[in-house]
Amino acid sequence: MNERSGIFEGSDPFVIARRWLEDARAAEPSDPDAAALASVDENGMPNVRVVLIRGFEDDAFVFYTNYRSAKSQELEGAGKAAFVIHWKSLARQIRVRGTVARASAAQSDAYFRGRPLESRIGAWASQQSRVLESRALLAEEVERLSAELGSEPPRPEHWGGFRLTPAEIEFWSAGEFRLHDRFRWTRSGPQAPWSVVRLWP
Ligand SMILES: Cc1cc2nc3c(=O)[nH]c(=O)nc-3n(C[C@H](O)[C@H](O)[C@H](O)COP(=O)(O)O)c2cc1C
Repeated sequence: MNERSGIFEGSDPFVIARRWLEDARAAEPSDPDAAALASVDENGMPNVRVVLIRGFEDDAFVFYTNYRSAKSQELEGAGKAAFVIHWKSLARQIRVRGTVARASAAQSDAYFRGRPLESRIGAWASQQSRVLESRALLAEEVERLSAELGSEPPRPEHWGGFRLTPAEIEFWSAGEFRLHDRFRWTRSGPQAPWSVVRLWP
């Protein structure tokens, strides 16, 4: 094998990723699930922004957003995405690349129901990524929709989850004098077995 031990040990990269997230929950002062999510537009121009990876599941990573946002156009246009999480306090990073598709309505509904009311109203109010004339207009929209939707707003159709199904997951941990450890897991499809290699730092 590749002398994987300690924090790299295991036969399933999703299990390792969850373990690292738990380590980060104990060590990071805020948003241990914040990832820089990369996409590419129709001209091949890359784009990147932070989102929260809310689901570290058995076969996918899940995040939530506005389906009319710039990122959603790019994600759905290409069908592929990548993200990186850097845990500074642990001196570790995880890189993920793969295909991306909308989560089921049921999964998005369940997540939406668990959000604070203000965030649920915000999902209705925000035309994410469009030009906003003034902050006041946003406040007006929030007020109008709060009155209209009441205390149990349903999930708007334009808001929900994406599932990123990885073809590749890389675990990186800082070593002394930049002699870092890197392990790259790959597989040819969602049901295929994983293989793992050690990479030069
Ligand atoms: C810590 C942090 C967490 C964020 N989480 C999310 C998120 O989960 N979903 C989301 O749509 N935007 C999130 N954002 C905002 C995005 O970075 C971005 O501004 C927004 O989604 C619009 O991106 P787009 O125009 O490329 O679609 C977050 C920003 C930060 C700094």
